Amino acid sequence: MKNSHMVVVTGAASGIGKQLAIQLAEEGWQVAITDINEDGLQETAREIGDAVLDATALDVSDAEKVAEWGQRIVDKHGVPHSVYHVGGISMWGSVASMPLEKWEKLIDVNLMGTIHVIRNLVPSMMDAGPITGSAAKELGPRRLVCVASSAGVLGLPWHAAYSASKGGVLSMLEVLRFDLASFGIKVHAVAPGAVDTGLVRTIDIHGIDQNNPRVQKAKKLFQGHAVSPAKCAQIIRRGVRKNKYLITTGGDVKLGRWAQVNLPFLYRGALTGLNRAFQWVAKDAALK
Ligand SMILES: NC(=O)c1ccc[n+]([C@@H]2O[C@H](COP(=O)([O-])OP(=O)(O)OC[C@H]3O[C@@H](n4cnc5c(N)ncnc54)[C@H](O)[C@@H]3O)[C@@H](O)[C@H]2O)c1
Repeated sequence: MKNSHMVVVTGAASGIGKQLAIQLAEEGWQVAITDINEDGLQETAREIGDAVLDATALDVSDAEKVAEWGQRIVDKHGVPHSVYHVGGISMWGSVASMPLEKWEKLIDVNLMGTIHVIRNLVPSMMDAGPITGSAAKELGPRRLVCVASSAGVLGLPWHAAYSASKGGVLSMLEVLRFDLASFGIKVHAVAPGAVDTGLVRTIDIHGIDQNNPRVQKAKKLFQGHAVSPAKCAQIIRRGVRKNKYLITTGGDVKLGRWAQVNLPFLYRGALTGLNRAFQWVAKDAALK
């Protein structure tokens, strides 16, 4: 097998994907990185240096382009040891006003993009079969790691469209963790809470004036309890090493998920309160 040390990382131009690519390269992996943002991707490639086998800009929602890219990566560099699919977008808004194009965009990039990446890389990993012998000791099992969101689990305000896209990813991974087990591929679902990345600064909140002081204050609160992208990448790598299926990045996500099942009244109360807080912000910041 060529380059059994290769891992693929999407969304590598910024935020969590960039930090994962850097940290995986520091760990000794060779990386094939991609992102829709060519400039950011090349900057990441420069920062990583020799460990980069491939840095090709790509829109993960473009089925044909992902298929060509996946084939080229496997033909040129061999079967990836692991795939870290991180690239994605976020848009929030009320179901009453969020335009159809935004719903479609979220599904195209977050859900269909994940499907395209999986369909074009994972079958080669299945064909290659489990890693055995000394390589298994050195490299560990093959892994499919996909970054979804806590919004795929919890009923966060105005997240309906985003949650539909990320919840789809989580449901798909729940199946794949069992379907892929006999091929020696471990599946990891990442559900981050708040991470202070470009996504937070540029988030599209439909119908809301982002310069409104209440919105600015809410964003500051979010960033105040957000972890850095580097810390998030460390948490993901630790979870992967420990073979955890669901990897969360904040105590609030873990608690929310636990309360959803074990203390539903507490969960309902907390999420109702959060929803009211968003309505309070929207009252002042709604664009006319
Ligand atoms: N930041 C958070 O609080 C948070 C919370 C939960 C989940 N997430 C998820 O984490 C992942 C990484 O986001 P981040 O916070 O690092 O934000 P980010 O904006 O810094 O990184 C996302 C990357 O994905 C790339 N991307 C966007 N659309 C793409 C497309 N069509 N094709 C290929 N690449 C594309 C962007 O160019 C960017 O480099 C996303 O899937 C996001 O939904 C983030």
